[in-house]
Amino acid sequence: MTAEPGAVEASLQAQAASAEHIGSPLYASLLSELLADHRAGGITADLLDGVSAQPTHDAIPLRYLATAHRLALAGDAPGLARLYPSCGGTWRGETLGREFIEVARQHRSAFEAGVRRNVQTNEVGRAPVLATAFALITRRHRMALDLLEIGASAGLLSHWDRYHYDTGFTSAGDPDSPLRFDARWWNDPKPSLSGKTVVASTRCSDIDPIDITTAAGRLTMLSFVWPDQQERLDRLRTALDIAARLPITVERADAGDWLQAQLALAPSTGVATVVFHSIVWQYLPRPTRDGVRRAIHAAADRASEQAPVFWLRMEPAGPTFADVRLTSWPGGGEEVLAEVGYHGTGIRWLAAD
Ligand SMILES: C[S@@+](CC[C@H](N)C(=O)[O-])C[C@H]1O[C@@H](n2cnc3c(N)ncnc32)[C@H](O)[C@@H]1O
Repeated sequence: MTAEPGAVEASLQAQAASAEHIGSPLYASLLSELLADHRAGGITADLLDGVSAQPTHDAIPLRYLATAHRLALAGDAPGLARLYPSCGGTWRGETLGREFIEVARQHRSAFEAGVRRNVQTNEVGRAPVLATAFALITRRHRMALDLLEIGASAGLLSHWDRYHYDTGFTSAGDPDSPLRFDARWWNDPKPSLSGKTVVASTRCSDIDPIDITTAAGRLTMLSFVWPDQQERLDRLRTALDIAARLPITVERADAGDWLQAQLALAPSTGVATVVFHSIVWQYLPRPTRDGVRRAIHAAADRASEQAPVFWLRMEPAGPTFADVRLTSWPGGGEEVLAEVGYHGTGIRWLAAD
C-alpha cells in the first residue's frame, strides 16, 4: 500500500505531538528518536513504509509502539522493560530509541505482524460521563435500562455499573467497587448522579472483540496504553480484574448488522432502550453507519412513552475533546449533554434535567 511521500513521517510527528499533549513524555521523546531513525532509512522505515495508505488515520506509529510494549510487558524485551514504568521500570528522561530499535531487530516478525494489527483501546475513563448520562435518562423516565453498546472492544464500558462514581454531592454505581471515579472527573458545577439507575440487560458487540479472560487479551489491552501513564494503566488493570470475575460476552459482529438483529423486535414496554457508543463512529465504514442509523430509526419508529428509545454517543467534536449527544424518542429531540476529553476527563456537563 502506498502512502503519499512524507506521510509516515507526518504520522510519527503527529503522534509525537499528541503524546506530548496527552501527557506521555516518554512516548513523545521515543517518537522523536524513531522519526530520526525513519529519516535515516533505519528499521523504522523498513517496518512502517508500505503498511497503510493512510498512516496517520490508521495510527501506524501507535501499532509500532504497542508491539514493543507488548513484548516488554510479556517479559520478552527486558532492556525496554527496565525503562517502562508499566513494566516496573524507571524512566528519567534517558534516550530509549537505541533500545527500542534493538528490540525491533530481534523481534522483526512480531513487528511485521504488529504494525498490521488495528489499535485496540477500551478507555474506562469514559465511564463517568456515560454513567452521568444514564442517570439523567433514569431521572427523566424512571425506567430500567436495556443497554446495547456497539464498538465495545473488550466490553469494559458495558461493565460501567460495576464501578463507583462520586461527584462529592451525589454518587452512583457499585459502592464497594475497587474502581472509583471521584469529583475530579467532573468540572463545576457538578451534574447529578442521583436516580439509582437499574440495568435490565446489557448486550454489546465489536467487529474485533478482545477476550480479556485470556492472557493474550489482557496483554493486548495493556499494550495500547502509554507505558508512563500509570493512572490509566492502574484503572485498566482494575477494570480487567472486575470484568474477569463476571465476564460479559462481546459478540463478534459488524455494528450495523448486529443492531439490526438486536432491534428487530419492538422495544420492550417498561424499559428504556439505550444504544450507545464512544469513539467508534470514525472507524465505521459508510454501509455500517447507514446500517446503524437504519436500525435505530426503525426502533425509534416503534418507540412510545412506555417504551422509549435513546441513542447516546460520545464522539470527537474537536482536536482534544468529544461531545456527548443524546437523541430521544418519541420525539427525536437531540441534545448535547456534555463536552469531555477523549479519555473521559474534564467533563463539562451542559444538560438540564
Ligand atoms: C477506539 S475503539 C473504542 C472502544 C470503546 N468504545 C471505548 O470507548 O473504549 C473503536 C472500536 O470500534 C470497533 N469497530 C471498528 N469497526 C467496527 C465495525 N464495523 N463494527 C463494530 N465495531 C467496530 C473496533 O474494533 C474498536 O474496538
